[in-house]
Formats: sequence, C-alpha cells, structure tokens
Amino acid sequence: MHTGNRWAVAVAVLALVAGTAAFTEAASPIVIKFSHVVAKEAPKGKAADRFAELVNQRLKGRVEVQAFHNSALYKDREEIEALQLGAVQLLAPSTAKLVPWFPQYQVFDLPYLFVDQEHAHKAMTDPRVTAKLFPLLKSRGMLGLAAWDNGFKHMTSNKCPIVKPEDMKGQKIRVQSSKVLEEQFRIVGAKPQVMAFGEVYNALERGVVDGEENTFTNIYSQRMHEVQRCLTVSSHGYIAYVVLTNALFWEGLPRDIRKVLEDSLAEVTKWEWEQSAKEQEEAYEKMQEYAKATGKLQITVLTPEQRTQWAATFQPVHKKFESVIGKDLLDLIPGLAK
Ligand code: LMR
Repeated sequence: MHTGNRWAVAVAVLALVAGTAAFTEAASPIVIKFSHVVAKEAPKGKAADRFAELVNQRLKGRVEVQAFHNSALYKDREEIEALQLGAVQLLAPSTAKLVPWFPQYQVFDLPYLFVDQEHAHKAMTDPRVTAKLFPLLKSRGMLGLAAWDNGFKHMTSNKCPIVKPEDMKGQKIRVQSSKVLEEQFRIVGAKPQVMAFGEVYNALERGVVDGEENTFTNIYSQRMHEVQRCLTVSSHGYIAYVVLTNALFWEGLPRDIRKVLEDSLAEVTKWEWEQSAKEQEEAYEKMQEYAKATGKLQITVLTPEQRTQWAATFQPVHKKFESVIGKDLLDLIPGLAK
C-alpha cells in the first residue's frame, strides 16, 4: 500500500476507535446515527424523529441525523457499546440500562421513590443530581446531553390478578439490567429475568416469562397487552432516559454545528416531556378500550391502601442499595418532591 494511503487508513481507524468522525465537511454531511429500542410511535421514537427533522432542516447538507427505531441497529447493552466505539452517535437509554457500568444510576429504579411525575422530572434535572451522575458517564467517554421522559411503570402478567405483593410469588418477570429491579421482584417471591427490551414481546408470547413491568406507552406500542392477561396500574417505578453521545465525537464537532444541535435538542426535550405525559394517558385509554372490546385483558387499578402495602413491602430495597447508590443521592431525592 502507498504510504499516503496507509496513513489515511490509520487516521480513519484511529478516528473510528476514538469515536470521532473525520470532519471533512465540504465532502459530505456529518452523519449522526440515533439508535434506540422502542417503537417509532412511542414518545422516544417520535422525539428522535423530530430531532432528526429539525436538525436536517437547520443544518441541511452539513449534518444528517438518522433515527433507528425498535432495536433495528442494536439492542440494549449493544447500543451502549456501539456508542463507546463510535458506531452510533446518539442514544437515549433508560437509566436502568446504564447500571452495568454505573450502579449509582439505580437510584431511578427504586420502587415508589417518586410521588408524581414532577418529582421525577426534578430528580432527572436537578444540578446536584446531574453533578453526581454525569461525570461518571464522562469517565467512560460518554456525555449526558439531556433527560427525556417516559413515565410511571405498571405490572403486566399472565398469572392473574396481581393485587397484593403475595400474588407475585413464583412469577417469572422480565426486568431491565438493574440489580434494584431484580431485588424488587425477589423480595415479593418472583423470579426476575434480565432481558433486552426487543425480546420481551416474544418472551411473553411464548411463556418464557409470565410478566413484566413497563410504562403504558411501551406496553401499548409493543402490543404486550395482547399477549398478557392482566395489567395492574401500580405506578410503582419510573422510566427516565438520558440522551447520550460519545464525548470525543461531540467535542470534535465544529462549534456552530454543536450549538444548533444543542438548541434543537433543548427544543425537542421540552416537546418530548409534554408529549410523553399526554401519550401515557392515551395508551392507557386504548388498552382500556381493548380490554372492553375483547374481554382478554383484566385491568386492576391499585387503591391508595394497596399501593401503601406494596411500597412497604418494597421499602427494604432502598436500604439495601444505599451504599451502592450513595447516601447523599438517596437523601437528596425525596426532598425534591413538592
Ligand atoms: C425497557 O427496557 O423496558 C425500557 O427501558 C425500554 C425503553 O427504552 O423505554
């Protein structure tokens, strides 16, 4: 190989390994691949598309954002590895997906931690919280750019009904990659199984697991309610997202481009929060209609007393993970409620 070529290949490989794009702007647009695991119709999918649309219009010919939905490129764990390697440039994983690298992120998985959505929003964005969590991301070459919202989680199963904590006994339940979530189900006698989001529908359909926990939009947009016999509206946990990029890639972008990207992201973030709250309600209504029309889904809404019972049963999980998460974070978050 000609020495010049060899050098060019070496630079390209180095750039890829470092996660940086070789920004030869004149020749071609900078491609930003935005990978995520939920449906195109879910709030995160819509927000990824909206971000792509805004940026592609505002930076026409200079930047091209491509959104990949529904684990089309990578599943949960793979996408974080792909970001570190520079194969994709943007992700918005739930905080639970970060736990294998950063156990402190489990704070968001603690059962009955947030009293309402506003409380969760404050915890996701409070500078004292992000000051503890964002540097962790940086230590692995990633940058946290924004917090996107999903909402409260509920339980679904084929072993019904789920009303009291004892009803979970022996149930095989799919969880995200978080030890807190595993413990939450172990404490009620269930058998938690960590599984990528993209595999859940099939696992429920084939009976590999009996149930799972998720937000209304995720349950509805993946059609999980069609392969589950009951849905318990428990609001026992929360799914929040961190919009993540590769630090070297982002910091290597021309300053003016980065500014447009950051402004567009801030705009879409505001929209995504509003959209998510609205869509949780809509997805719930659609599942109520489905239940009524087919008689195949039993919906139970926990009473405040029943929720208190679940919260008391789950409480030891908070104490157990205090040292892993950090007492300072654990002490801070409850105080952020109104
Ligand atoms: C899940 O794996 O259940 C969710 O985190 C998926 C998502 O990204 O909302």
